[in-house]
Amino acid sequence: MEINKIKLIKIIDETAIQSRVKEIATELSNKFDNKKPIFIGVLNGSFIFISDLVRNLSINCEVDFIKVSSYKGQNTTGTVKLLKDISADITNRHVVIVEDIIDSGLTIEFLVKRLKGASPQSISIVTLLLKPDIAKLSLPIDIIGFEIAPDFVVGYGLDYDQDFRHLPAVYRLEK
Ligand code: IMP
Ligand code: MG
Repeated sequence: MEINKIKLIKIIDETAIQSRVKEIATELSNKFDNKKPIFIGVLNGSFIFISDLVRNLSINCEVDFIKVSSYKGQNTTGTVKLLKDISADITNRHVVIVEDIIDSGLTIEFLVKRLKGASPQSISIVTLLLKPDIAKLSLPIDIIGFEIAPDFVVGYGLDYDQDFRHLPAVYRLEK
């Protein structure tokens, strides 16, 4: 497929994503039955994943969002900036962080550290995609949708310069 002269190669099709999302929703429904977890989507990338995920839950839940930006300089490990905080009080709550992708792991580590400061009862991490060859993680990821190669990917919420979020499948950019 080619959009705006950029060639996109499909790596995970819509059917595979939807069936994995259903599996993840079942796992979370079992884990948090009667616990009314609060799902926190990381904007903007996770907006499609979290909406499909919660629609497949068989339990009650709350939904909130947080927005961060990560900046990676050439010789730095990078910094993460908070752009929009959650609105809910998560004290003593079961929190499920919903990410689109974990690349270096910097963003998720920042988020866990920050949310822990509000004393939730538990924090679980769910990510649709993980690049295991790049991620340097010092914390466990509870649920991973798909492990992928260290290529730049778009679609299903993920963007390249704000383009391609609307695509229902996941594509890698052809170099
Ligand atoms: P990390 O902090 O390096 O783990 O990167 C986290 C954020 O960078 C993700 O939440 C995405 O917003 C963005 N990101 C990382 N890899 C990709 C990619 O391949 N495509 C689109 N966005 C990405
Ligand atoms: Mg993200």
